[in-house]
This record gives sequence, structure tokens and C-alpha cells, in this order.
Amino acid sequence: MDGNGRWAKERGLPRAEGHRAGADSVREVMDACKELGVKYLTLYAFSSENWNRPEAEIEALMALLDRFLDEKAEELDKQNVRLQAIGQIDRLPASTRERLTRIQEHTKGNDSMTLVLALSYGAREEITAAARSIAEAAIAGTISPEEITPELFARHLYTADIPDPDLLIRTSGEMRISNFLLWQISYSEIVIVKKMWPDFRQGDLFAAVEEYKRRHRRFGAL
Ligand code: FPP
Repeated sequence: MDGNGRWAKERGLPRAEGHRAGADSVREVMDACKELGVKYLTLYAFSSENWNRPEAEIEALMALLDRFLDEKAEELDKQNVRLQAIGQIDRLPASTRERLTRIQEHTKGNDSMTLVLALSYGAREEITAAARSIAEAAIAGTISPEEITPELFARHLYTADIPDPDLLIRTSGEMRISNFLLWQISYSEIVIVKKMWPDFRQGDLFAAVEEYKRRHRRFGAL
């Protein structure tokens, strides 16, 4: 969800206003995904590297997130949506952690769509943590090195029970992955959209899905 800061700057507004408008895009895109029958929507809302931003911006982002969670808690459940957070959740403020824990628990049985929030998320940290837990299991003797396969490795990632993404959309025209789901996107189709995230709305999502439908996925085969 890139480009909130530039969107605000272009309008002479503080960066936090860009994030606020970005949260409106989140609401609209969520509803559009629901309408399309998307089973998993993952939003990269806060990266491990975002902790290096000014404290005021981090606070504004966490407040937006808390507000979003308060507002959506009941609605998610009514819509049969499951919430799941991935990332170093223990680094988040207690208020955000508590909301996430409560809503995840409350919605865990829902199955129309899973909304995955990547928070304090970094793919390199995720992969390193998976390698560490496998190494610990090997030392403890519960796993032997021959048993370490891509499937076993994937089960040690935050996304253990989430399928790999079919489509990755990045806004603001940047051609980078920025430490997002590096393992999981091996064969994802990528659509780069020039618009800044706060301008990305329902029609843009539908257009990206149309673009995806025109792709011929071969997964390395002929
Ligand atoms: C990247 O734009 C965006 C973020 C770091 C935050 C994304 C958060 C939201 C859209 C709102 C809150 C989230 C939810 C789920 C309610 P940037 O700030 O890096 O933009 P720039 O590259 O133009 O500076």
C-alpha cells in the first residue's frame, strides 16, 4: 500500500493525512475483495523497517490501526471474515496487540475470507525465524536434516496455514518487493499500479484482477 506520504505531500498535507486516506482505501478494497470472492487478502500495513520512521508518524499509524480494528471488529464477524496478523506482533503497542488478539480469537472460525494484516512484518526476519526454529528442532533431535523440505520450511513461516498469493499489487509505481512475503511470492503474478495507495479504489482492484486473468501462469513448466 505504497504512496500515502507522496499523496499527502502533493496536497500540502501532513503524512498522517495520507495514511488516513489510505485507511479509506483499505475499507473499500476489503469490500471489493469480498464482493469478488477473494479468499485471502493480505495487506502490508507496517514493515519491520517502518519502525525507523519518526515517532509521531508511527503513533498516527498505530492509532489508525486501532480505530480500524474497533470499527471493524463486529463487521468482520458478521461478514464471516477471519482476521489474522503476521509479523513481529510482540513489538506492537499493547493496545494494538490486545485488539488483534481479541479479534483473531473471536473470528477464528469464520471462513468466507481471511484478512491478513502484515504488521511489523519483514520477510527476512520471517525466514530467519523459521530457520532458527528448524535448527532448534534439529538440535533437539525432533527433525533430521533430510526431512527439511520446502513444504516443511513453509510450515515454520507466519503464513503456515495461508496459501501463497496468486496476485501481488503494488501501488505508487515502485518496482520493488520491499521485504514482503519473499518466500511466498515465488510464483505470484505482479501488477504495479501508478496510482498512490489513497487513490487506489474498487475500480482499480477490479482492473488489476482483469489484468491477472489475462496472465498465463506456468509455474516454471511449459
Ligand atoms: C506506505 O506509504 C504505507 C504505509 C507505511 C502504511 C500503510 C497504512 C495504511 C494504508 C493505513 C492503516 C492500515 C490499515 C490496515 C487500516 P508511504 O508512507 O511509504 O508512502 P511514500 O512512499 O509516498 O512516503
